This record gives sequence, C-alpha cells and structure tokens, in this order.
Amino acid sequence: MTASRSVNADTPVTIRPPGDKSITHRALIFASLANGASRIRGALTSLDARSMARVLRQLGVEISPLKAGSEVVVTGRGLRGLRRPPAPLHCGNSGTTARFLLGTLASYRFPAWITGDASLRRRPMRRVTAPLSQMGAAFEERNGDGLPLIVHGGPLRPLDYDMPVAAAQVKTALLLAGLTGRVAVRLREPGRSRDHTERMLRALGVPLDVTGEHLAFTPVDRIEAFDLDVPGDPSSAAFLIGAAILGIGASRCGVRVAGVGVNPTRLGAVRVLERMGARLALEPTGVTLGEPVADIVVHPSRLVACDVTPGEVPSLIDEVPILAVLASRADGESVFRGVAELRVKESNRLELLAANLRALGVTAEASADTLTVVGTDRPPRGRVETEGDHRIAMAFAVLGALPGARVRLSERASVAVSYPWFFDDLRKVRSGA
Ligand code: S3P
Repeated sequence: MTASRSVNADTPVTIRPPGDKSITHRALIFASLANGASRIRGALTSLDARSMARVLRQLGVEISPLKAGSEVVVTGRGLRGLRRPPAPLHCGNSGTTARFLLGTLASYRFPAWITGDASLRRRPMRRVTAPLSQMGAAFEERNGDGLPLIVHGGPLRPLDYDMPVAAAQVKTALLLAGLTGRVAVRLREPGRSRDHTERMLRALGVPLDVTGEHLAFTPVDRIEAFDLDVPGDPSSAAFLIGAAILGIGASRCGVRVAGVGVNPTRLGAVRVLERMGARLALEPTGVTLGEPVADIVVHPSRLVACDVTPGEVPSLIDEVPILAVLASRADGESVFRGVAELRVKESNRLELLAANLRALGVTAEASADTLTVVGTDRPPRGRVETEGDHRIAMAFAVLGALPGARVRLSERASVAVSYPWFFDDLRKVRSGA
C-alpha cells in the first residue's frame, strides 16, 4: 500500500501488499461467532472482504466500516447468535464468502438465500453442500451445482469425510458447520490446502488434531474475541514479485515486498520461482495469531522453465496466472500439471491463460488438467480478455509493463476484488517513487 523512495541505486523500492484475503475472511467470520469485541488491524478492505462484512452484518453482526488504514472492530454474537437475514445474502464475486456461509448457516434453523455475481453463480457449490447434507442440512438448488441456493439448516450430526479435492474453502466450511453446530468433524484431504483456519482455531484455543492430511475437530461451547494483525497477502505480493523478477523499471535495483504472510501452505510459487532461478530472500519479521510474516526481497533474474507437479498445486493455486506469465519469459517450455481446479475459479483460468498468452504471441496450450507455456523474448503485444477476473488482469498488467510491450486489458476495474490500488503499486515498482 505504501512505497518509499530508493535513497540510492542499490536500495530496493519497498511496497507493502494489502492484507491477506483468506485470513481477513476467516478473521471476520470467527470474530462474528466469538464472544466479545475483536480488533482486526491491516484487514483487506477490497470488494471481496466487503462482501463478507456485508453479509455478516445482514446476519446481525456489528462490524465497523472496512477502510484502508483503520482497525476493524467486530462485535461477536457467539456461536449460536446469528439472526435470520432480512434479504438474500449477496456474496458478490467472493467464493470464500459463499462457501463459508453455507457451512456457518447449516446449523441455523432459519432459511437463508445465498447468491452472487454472474461469475460466482457459475462456481461449484455441491462440493460443500454434499458433505453438509450428510451432516443433516438441506439445500434448495435454484441453479444446479451453482448459486443461488437456499440453506435450510438445523441440528447437525458429526461428520467423517474424505474430501475429493484439496480445497481450503470446503475444509473451512465443514469446520464452521462443526463449530456453529457443535458437532465433531473429521476430514481427510487428498493434498494440503492452505491451513489458515486450523492455525486460527488453534490460536483461539479450539482443540484440533492435525496429522498429515487427517484433521479432527472437537466441538467447543464458545470462542473468545481476539486481536489480530493481518499479514500482507502472498497472492497479491506475487504480482509485485513477478514485476521485480522481470526487472521492470526502477525495480532493477530490487523490490522489498514487506510484511507478507509466509505460511508454507501458501508459498508454492516462491519455491517454484526459486527452482526457475529467481533471486529472492525471505527475511522473517514475526508471527501473528499462528501465521509467520516476512519481508521478501526480490532482484531481477533470468528464469528457466518450470515443471509444476500436481502435489504442489494447492500451495500455489492462486499464483498460476502470474507464474504462467513469468514462464512466458523463461528459457524453455514450462508445464503446470494437475491444474484442472483453475477451470472453476473466478473465470476458467486454464483456458483463459492459454488463450491470452497466445493472443500476445506466446505458444501456450491448455489440456484437460495441464497448461504448457513456451518462453520467448518477443515483446508481448495484443489484447487480453480478463473476463472480469482480478488475477488475470493483474498477471497480464505485469507482462504489459515490460519494455516494448503493448498489452491492452479488456478492463482493469476487477483488481478491486483483492487489490484495489494494484495499478498504483505497479507504477511505484516501475518508477521507484
Ligand atoms: C481460499 C482457498 C483457495 C483459493 C481462494 C481462497 C480460501 O480455494 O483459490 O482464492 O481462502 O480458503 P480452494 O478452496 O480451492 O482451496
């Protein structure tokens, strides 16, 4: 959010990315279910975070306005204190909001209508409603697997469930159902998705056993309010890191991306970039509510192609757009395997990435679950269709900042979903001011 001017050519530009989206969502919902007033500093204040705050207010929770630079105060209502919403719960573009609500409301007796924008209405919800139905909740579908959905909650049964996909939103929705419904939940994930929920619950004193990919939650009667400093979002930081690696503008003397959450379940992209030859260093600065934080210092680097394996995809799922863009500047052919989940994100990112790279003169191909990208030195030129997907817009904006590039984005407004001042920060990387 803030950048400081380089004092000499060897000092990196410093940029602090916005608060972590995943942690902000969790903080807002757990604070709403806690007893007492929680204080959240450094929260993300983007459209997605506002969607979460808006629907929680509709459920009777008092939440102070989400304004950049201000602390957010949430007055919790306890695990069973949510109120019947007076109107449909509109989740905007936020899949996390929709899925967390489904889990949270599964144990409440009132019906609740959940919907979202056109992109969100296309995204799959049965991955959450199927296990919640096993617990005893009922759902009225109005659009097949997508939204809108009407939740008819009630008393829940304990759950013992093998998750078909490694998905943190599903895992969290089921834990929220266990928490508000006060029933035990045992899960097995086929891979390790981000573990912010587990860390936050543990930091709040909730008993949770994690052994490899097995997770066992024991119900509690209440959770207490908390204070939290939200770390910077590594997924937003990834765009600044990408620009720095490409040596765009003033970032030739390096970029310090400050105060970034470096939870290992989110750092797959950093590990892949290191394999590609990127020069980056993590300088730890502390721990907040179980989450490690660091500055990431990045220098321009010549990259070689990468081979991303299915096992590492959950740890870099939101970074594939920027990694694919960087792969288009690397030596050789990069392959991203096991990335079919990209088809059900804010857009069909698998097809859209390949199509947009081709539109800019890069050889790229999407198959059922694999993306291949062949690196080139030819300046990218052409039009990019973002389909309103914030991460597609930001990834290609980084590519468009290369010297000699001529990249037109179909729109830029979507960055407000997760990183409202992204273009200002990209400009700071370019100009060093
Ligand atoms: C998120 C989990 C990820 C990620 C999304 C946020 C979360 O999705 O893509 O942007 O906050 O839990 P999955 O549910 O597929 O892991």
